[in-house]
Amino acid sequence: MKIAIIGMGNVGKALGYRWNEGVHEMMFGVRKPEADQLVVDPEQKPVKIATIGVALEWGELVVMATPYKAALTLMKTCGPLAGKVIVDATNPIAPGLTGLSVGGDTSGAEEIQKAQPQAHVVKCFNTTGFNNMQNPVYDKRKSVMFLCGSNAVAKASVKLLSDELGFDTIDAGPLSMAHHLESLAMLWIKLAYAQGHGREIALVLRRR
Ligand SMILES: NC(=O)c1ccc[n+]([C@@H]2O[C@H](COP(=O)([O-])OP(=O)(O)OC[C@H]3O[C@@H](n4cnc5c(N)ncnc54)[C@H](OP(=O)(O)O)[C@@H]3O)[C@@H](O)[C@H]2O)c1
Repeated sequence: MKIAIIGMGNVGKALGYRWNEGVHEMMFGVRKPEADQLVVDPEQKPVKIATIGVALEWGELVVMATPYKAALTLMKTCGPLAGKVIVDATNPIAPGLTGLSVGGDTSGAEEIQKAQPQAHVVKCFNTTGFNNMQNPVYDKRKSVMFLCGSNAVAKASVKLLSDELGFDTIDAGPLSMAHHLESLAMLWIKLAYAQGHGREIALVLRRR
């Protein structure tokens, strides 16, 4: 599968570098592709880096890993991404980490779906820190990654990618569940920063 990641920051790199270890075809879409050539990890096999427009067109599965507002603007202005899977890893965090800037009867992911009605939006990779995407295992136990979306085939593709990173990937239901995942992200952020637990924390789903 051709995976395009829009944004080459903490989350984009954490996901992209891990998937690049496998069989996937990867491309990053960034604002300044020439500048970003300089920051590719020399230990890694080469990763394609292109403009955002080229990456959006190239990818069969597109991961949005920019600030939420930038992702929404891109989705509103880039033209139809019909049939593609759009993985929304963003969180609509209000300034100062005070809460979520999108809520009520919608969510960031649902606003992205409205902007791209012919694409299949899956919310995933937003509920935990990028450091856990680099390594989701705590004391030999997989930490949990929730996803939601309304297209079963799209969700199955994203689940495989999340499983590949080493997460215990749980389908939380249709895209209307996205605001719960965005609130869960806020909980993780508050625990890490406001409550002083730090970034090396993750949620685990226990079963019996
Ligand atoms: N950090 C985490 O642990 C974490 C975990 C889960 C989810 N998230 C969410 O994931 C998203 C990315 O977080 P991050 O920590 O990876 O952020 P980051 O390190 O600041 O990286 C953001 C990336 O987005 C790009 N970008 C910023 N504004 C843009 C615009 N207007 N148009 C196009 N690209 C733009 C930046 O490109 P330039 O280099 O050109 O500025 C950079 O590549 C956020 O929505 C965040 O809430 C973060």
